Amino acid sequence: MIERRPIELKVSRMNDSFATDLHRRATVAMQTGHADADEHGGRIPVGQYMSDALTNQELGLLRQHPQPVVASSSLALPGAWLSLTHFGVPLLLVRQENGRVEAFINVCRHRGARVVPEGSGNEAGMFVCPYHAWSYGPDGALRGVPESFGFPCLKREESGLRKLATVERAGVVWVVLDPSLSESDPGERLGALMDNLESLEGLSKSVGFAPRSYIVEANWKLLVDGTFEAYHFKVAHRQTIAHLFAGNMQIIDEFDLHRRLYLIKARFAEDKPDIIGFDPRKYGNIIYSFFPATMILVQPDHAQLSSLEPLSATRTRVHEVTLIPQPPASDKATRYWQANVDLYRRTLAEDYELAESIQTGLATGANEALTFGTFEYSALRFHSQLQQQLAAMSTAG
Ligand code: FES
Ligand SMILES: [Fe+2]
Repeated sequence: MIERRPIELKVSRMNDSFATDLHRRATVAMQTGHADADEHGGRIPVGQYMSDALTNQELGLLRQHPQPVVASSSLALPGAWLSLTHFGVPLLLVRQENGRVEAFINVCRHRGARVVPEGSGNEAGMFVCPYHAWSYGPDGALRGVPESFGFPCLKREESGLRKLATVERAGVVWVVLDPSLSESDPGERLGALMDNLESLEGLSKSVGFAPRSYIVEANWKLLVDGTFEAYHFKVAHRQTIAHLFAGNMQIIDEFDLHRRLYLIKARFAEDKPDIIGFDPRKYGNIIYSFFPATMILVQPDHAQLSSLEPLSATRTRVHEVTLIPQPPASDKATRYWQANVDLYRRTLAEDYELAESIQTGLATGANEALTFGTFEYSALRFHSQLQQQLAAMSTAG
């Protein structure tokens, strides 16, 4: 069990103007030297970060929540298709004639071979299985069965590729990878936090830039924990971004299972911006954290999306893409966005190196639990929500 005490959350009223509310709370935080916190903090047992069995359950839970798979711009026009493996699931994404992206499990309904090898194209035609040549249309429907007299009981209309629940939001294709939830509404799951993100200029239809993925040798939750506080900024990020920020100042709002963090920049105190017309993106980083493991860091003119794929208790694959307002129109623009990607990568490398060092120390017996301070309460909230969701999933299963 996670050891934690009840906390009183300081959250904004939902009908407050977003920018005005952040200005008001940032002003109080800077005046008092204290931002959002709970009363006591708490502890997370180290075993939470060390169990492969638990990681497997968590992966099952992640597959039940919308996952950002690719930028919508990777499937720009009807007919565009993409075959890739995400969170262990072979996927086939196809933009339909009606403009919608559909996602299918890329597994043949005959005897289960992968239908389309990894790759992409612009003119989806017939997808033909390499084993016995059953063929599927761009809409996933089963079209052809060679020597079909051998399948007298086959119900073709029920034998198309398994379709997954999919939505495009903030310029990204989100897919619920668990086929038992194919009738769910991922847009509803992303909820009011996604509405708020899309209300920011340039983020409702952003374009993907420099998609990348890499491995970190640490439990995925150690990476999540690090996104929920600015306590470490002055120390861990002293060589990259520390000078830009006001130190240990985080303003936190919860939206269902998701949360939004506002990390106040030092220039907020220097410029003393007016509350009228206040632009929160200029005076802080906003992290949109979609449960369980997707973070979108909003900068003044772009955003960085990271999602975490647990591979084992001690290994995580990080998927990243940068969301920019339009495709770079020149080499200069490309260099500008690449410089932003490089700084983001350097900063995250500082976090991830520390996560790897924590992982190495977990089994030493130095700590039975990791300690979280009052201003690190958001990580405790996340762990508690995760446990609740895992318990609900095992009850349902
Ligand atoms: S497994 Fe695909 S056609 Fe047989
Ligand atoms: Fe960090």
